[in-house]
Amino acid sequence: MKRYDSILIIGSGGREHSIGWKLSNDTKKKVYFAPGNGGTGNNIEIDSNDLMKLLEFAKKYNSFTIVGPEKPLALGIVDLFEGSQLSIFGPNRNASRLESSKVFAKLFMQNTGIQTAPFSIFSDASSAIKHVQSSSKNVVVKVDGLAAGKGVFVCDNDKSATEAIKKIFIDNEFRNSSNKIVLEERIYGDEASFIAICDGRFILPLASSQDHKNILDGDKGPNTGGMGSYSPTPLITQSLENKIMERIIQPTIKGLNNLGINFKGFLYAGLMIERGSNEPYVLEFNVRMGDPECQSILSRMDSNLLQYLEAAMDEKLESMPTIKWKDKHSVCIVMASRGYPGKYQTGKVIHGLNSRFGHDTHVFHSGTKKNSMREILTNGGRVLSVTSLDDTLEGAKNKCYSVVSQIHWGENEEYYRRDIALRGIKYTSSTFSD
Ligand code: AMP
Ligand code: GLY
Repeated sequence: MKRYDSILIIGSGGREHSIGWKLSNDTKKKVYFAPGNGGTGNNIEIDSNDLMKLLEFAKKYNSFTIVGPEKPLALGIVDLFEGSQLSIFGPNRNASRLESSKVFAKLFMQNTGIQTAPFSIFSDASSAIKHVQSSSKNVVVKVDGLAAGKGVFVCDNDKSATEAIKKIFIDNEFRNSSNKIVLEERIYGDEASFIAICDGRFILPLASSQDHKNILDGDKGPNTGGMGSYSPTPLITQSLENKIMERIIQPTIKGLNNLGINFKGFLYAGLMIERGSNEPYVLEFNVRMGDPECQSILSRMDSNLLQYLEAAMDEKLESMPTIKWKDKHSVCIVMASRGYPGKYQTGKVIHGLNSRFGHDTHVFHSGTKKNSMREILTNGGRVLSVTSLDDTLEGAKNKCYSVVSQIHWGENEEYYRRDIALRGIKYTSSTFSD
């Protein structure tokens, strides 16, 4: 790749903060964030979707750009930057359709023979409702386009499925996302996030992890962007990882190649490991790192991340050694504004951030900002992601909750799940093995 003078990380979440933290350990080059948050340094006041201003900045500072969130990818930031001979890590607009259109992703999986839940596509309420009524299985209703993790309704009965369909087609709650939906069969099992670095042809898997998507303990309530994670997950044994690589990740990159699409970037398969059969089903593809999975994965990474990103840019991942991971468990707990993923307040002063938490804990920022008095204020739904490492999963969870209990912005204003990593601890004491 071309020589560069600085790194530009696009985004403002805990994911981007943790990527910046890792890269700052890997290089002496200056790391900028656009727009960043109250925890990141060298913030540039440019919105992550303002592609022209980002381009101007990257040209001026001769940056190697790393894209955190999906939206700028779906808008075609990679195509734009590459057109100006700038180095940028992430998939191009065409490849990003794997995430930006559920319809595209499902049809791609069907055509490529990648295991996914049986599905149908609808563009009006009445035929979708008829389908629900004639089906004997519970369904999941998915809005076609990007909806920040909120466009998916996992239904227990026909009534909730019908309500979700009405929300989409009649109340028009997702009018910016698309006018199509996917109705798919609900699969029962355990979820895992499987993320790999791809250079268009070769793929290196990252450590496995598990997200906690629902807002409430016990996986109840609406979906969010993610309320906590841990890595690795005992659910993904070595033999299951081999199966996922052979049956899902490699065919995906090859199938895209067959369509003339080169996938360079992080490929994230959101999997359901079906109870009973132990078979991996793809629930979704994302074309970026997960948030908060990234925080728990990178906390464990012992290799130099930047070297891998550069190798992917140069299509030389094949010659890189496998990535080294700390022989430790990590847990990440998301502290959110109470009310998220619905309405919530912002602008609350966060206390307790200056305590010493020990070198095994990082408090990554998401929805925060600094005021003129250098106080850190809440500024979004997901506010902080506290990430701890320990020899055991239980130890990492305890360390993490102890830090969370020291951070406050008002009893009635803050919220976090109390059961992060408990599923992983339960699996560890049960029967997952090769
Ligand atoms: P998605 O954005 O498609 O990954 O969906 C968000 C979340 O909804 C997933 O992480 C699962 O928790 C749940 N989900 C999606 N599809 C299914 C399915 N077919 N069966 C069961 N749960 C699902
Ligand atoms: N944590 C799920 C996601 O990043 O999409």
